[in-house]
Amino acid sequence: MELKFPEDFYWGAATSSHQVEGGNFNDWTEWERQNAGRLAQEAKAAWQEWQTKLFPQMAEPKNYLSGRACDHYHYYEQDFDIAKQLNHNAHRFSVEWSRIEPEEGNFKQEEIEHYRQVIKTLRERGLEPFVTLWHWTNPVWVRDMGGWENKKTIYYFLRYVGKLADAFGDDVKFWLPINEPTVYAGQGYIIGAFPPGVKNIFTADKVLKNLMRAHKETFELLHKKFGDKVSVGSVHNLHYHTLYKRWNPLDNLAKRILEYIQNTRAINLFWSCSDFIGLNYYYRDTVKFVLGGRFGVADIENPNTEISDLGWDVFPEGIYYVLLSLKKYQKPVYITENGLADIEDKRRADFIREHLFWVHKAMENGVDVRGYFYWSLLDNFEWDKGFWPRFGLVEVNYQSLERKIRSSALVYAKICQENKIDA
Ligand code: GAL
Repeated sequence: MELKFPEDFYWGAATSSHQVEGGNFNDWTEWERQNAGRLAQEAKAAWQEWQTKLFPQMAEPKNYLSGRACDHYHYYEQDFDIAKQLNHNAHRFSVEWSRIEPEEGNFKQEEIEHYRQVIKTLRERGLEPFVTLWHWTNPVWVRDMGGWENKKTIYYFLRYVGKLADAFGDDVKFWLPINEPTVYAGQGYIIGAFPPGVKNIFTADKVLKNLMRAHKETFELLHKKFGDKVSVGSVHNLHYHTLYKRWNPLDNLAKRILEYIQNTRAINLFWSCSDFIGLNYYYRDTVKFVLGGRFGVADIENPNTEISDLGWDVFPEGIYYVLLSLKKYQKPVYITENGLADIEDKRRADFIREHLFWVHKAMENGVDVRGYFYWSLLDNFEWDKGFWPRFGLVEVNYQSLERKIRSSALVYAKICQENKIDA
């Protein structure tokens, strides 16, 4: 059976500046320098034996230094040639604030011009740019003034956005101000695994609210400037939660709490000032009530019948339920990220096909999905995990910087070209 997608559906892949560009100097690069040794040392205890065997580089500090990454900053033309060759008609990327404004008020014209070229290069290849304005990294001066804990950061962010809006003008239709606010607040301010490594739930809440205000004001600024010509969306990482024991009311309670904290709360805060919702979907969380568990009253205990190289519980059907949960907001939805770490490329093609099957089903059930972006176009720097997880449609050799198209990328290319999947 053939499942057709709408004619004007967007097909592409996503990246983010810090993960692919290389040569950045921001709060993350500083944090990497301070934490690479520790992360390398902890790797053995943090991962399963099969993972430490398959990825011995996780025990080396240099795995945790973003360094020149994929050098996408210099290779973007060639990378977009590949995206075009793979029949993509859209691409999501992010602008690196620390390049545009390395010191407070010192705006670098040549860096703004760089991103203008990036956008132009995409357009020349028939790729619609989806522009993220902030994908987790801050200039060090922003960090030094308290980062997103400090309300003033909203003002500075808006000033940066204003510069980009002036420079990009009509060349950008789709704007995504903030990537995954809940993940940022959770990892950086509750779990403490990301910079600044704080563990304080109240600070996390403050950060989330400041990010929301930054989003809202960006939404207003862009619409004031461009009217209805632009579409401004919020991007959320939403999990599919299910119950460990179906009939256990305590598991049910724990699941509801996690659903609220990880999914509903952020959507409720952002949706009224969003033209669309960007959904990043990766995995299922099977929730068990555990007092003192990882989430206070809950732990995740997945059946793990199928896992990615990162140990994430692959569950394509989950995207269907998450999409249905978005129906009530009555907004267009773009899948702004969906992907898996799979160095052997054994599972990726099926992963994409199966997720698209469930996306299509959600569309049949009235969810207005308008595009799909695989994470990621290239292998890249996976934050506190470093380089070993391989998410790319395109393999990157970090020594030679050579790009090699994986066979799953060709399967996806056919889907993009034919606008359909065979189910
Ligand atoms: C998302 C994030 C991306 C990427 C991806 C895979 O949460 O936005 O930057 O790292 O996860 O883990």
